[in-house]
Amino acid sequence: MKIAVLRETADAENRVAATPETVKKFIALGAEMAVETGAGAGANIADADYAAAGATVADRAGVIAGAHLVMGVQVPGVDGLPGIASGTMVAGGMSPFAAPERIKGYADAGLVALSMEFMPRITRAQSMDILSSQSNLAGYKAVIDAAEAYGRAFPMMMTAAGTISAARVFVMGVGVAGLQAIATARRLGALVSATDVRSATKEQIESLGAKAIFVADVKGIEGEGAGGYATEMSDEYKAAQAALVSSHIAKQDIVVTTALIPGRPAPRLVSDAQLASMRPGSVLVDLAVESGGNIEHSRPGEVVKVHGVTIIGHRNLAGRMAADASALFSRNLYNFINAFWDKDANSVAFPADDEIVVGVKLTEGGAVVHERLKAA
Ligand code: NAI
Repeated sequence: MKIAVLRETADAENRVAATPETVKKFIALGAEMAVETGAGAGANIADADYAAAGATVADRAGVIAGAHLVMGVQVPGVDGLPGIASGTMVAGGMSPFAAPERIKGYADAGLVALSMEFMPRITRAQSMDILSSQSNLAGYKAVIDAAEAYGRAFPMMMTAAGTISAARVFVMGVGVAGLQAIATARRLGALVSATDVRSATKEQIESLGAKAIFVADVKGIEGEGAGGYATEMSDEYKAAQAALVSSHIAKQDIVVTTALIPGRPAPRLVSDAQLASMRPGSVLVDLAVESGGNIEHSRPGEVVKVHGVTIIGHRNLAGRMAADASALFSRNLYNFINAFWDKDANSVAFPADDEIVVGVKLTEGGAVVHERLKAA
């Protein structure tokens, strides 16, 4: 079975879907690996490193020709897959909700599209979950970016010239990214607080040494839906949350927002008036900026200044740590393929009724087959 690894062509995408480490592992399984020229450049991996691991290195048409499986971090539309044969499997990041016409293109071309974002949140699939592996790095990078833009120190410092007080960091949305943001800000010595709609996160916040800021006594406090994800909140809850945040945010120096609701626009958590209440020089990082943004005025790919505070809206934070992000993304893909590897046939076989397969498969046999996409 031939597996092709694409060079990423999306804007500012430095990650790569396989590293020499996973290339070796795939070859040990019995696969033949073909890596596109320059695929690892953004993650500091040379073509020669892939060749040394046992892959052939060729241009895009060359790696796709005869491939049974094509892998990418942000898989391009069929226009970017020259010569791809009907029946070929394509696996990687596909942002299915953001680009339905691209997914339709895969179906029309007869491809089997496997979207790694749709990996079910079950124990068996944890090692295959790109959202977790990349969000974790994004949470870390958000705090590092904030620290860089903040004109003050994070830890309290007692010096001969007097004391510098610790930065106050508020994390809104405590999923995978939020937990890492809390941990990182704590390591840097900040005073950290955090909030979420899922009450299960309260204990997690406290176990990291941060203060939990929670709406109490309002209907809909348990905002947990399927798969551990958040659901849309009631109007009563939203009003209580806005009041709570207003009184808290004015005292914060750094705010990191990560709140997402799958398949819906990101909830608006910080308003213009709340921004105006913050001390000039404060910094906010909006990790939900590409899903509509948690913060008023945040803009994808931009750093904006409003009321004297800086709002960082970098896209693809994990991609700005391409070496580590690629290492984890590649292992997620390898773990996925390895779990379904058929040793006798020396290729991958996806049982149609497996929960993971049902979760990630978007298209097959010329049609969109995923229930969530059909519903959308
Ligand atoms: P996410 O990226 O979908 O959302 C980030 C956070 O924002 C969530 O904690 C969510 O509750 C919160 N949020 C949504 N609306 C909000 C609002 N209005 N105000 C404040 N916060 C709000 O979440 P992520 O990181 O994907 O994690 C979701 C769940 O999945 C967690 O319970 C996590 O532990 C679980 N998980 C399970 C895995 C597995 O079992 N394989 C792997 C990774 C995560």
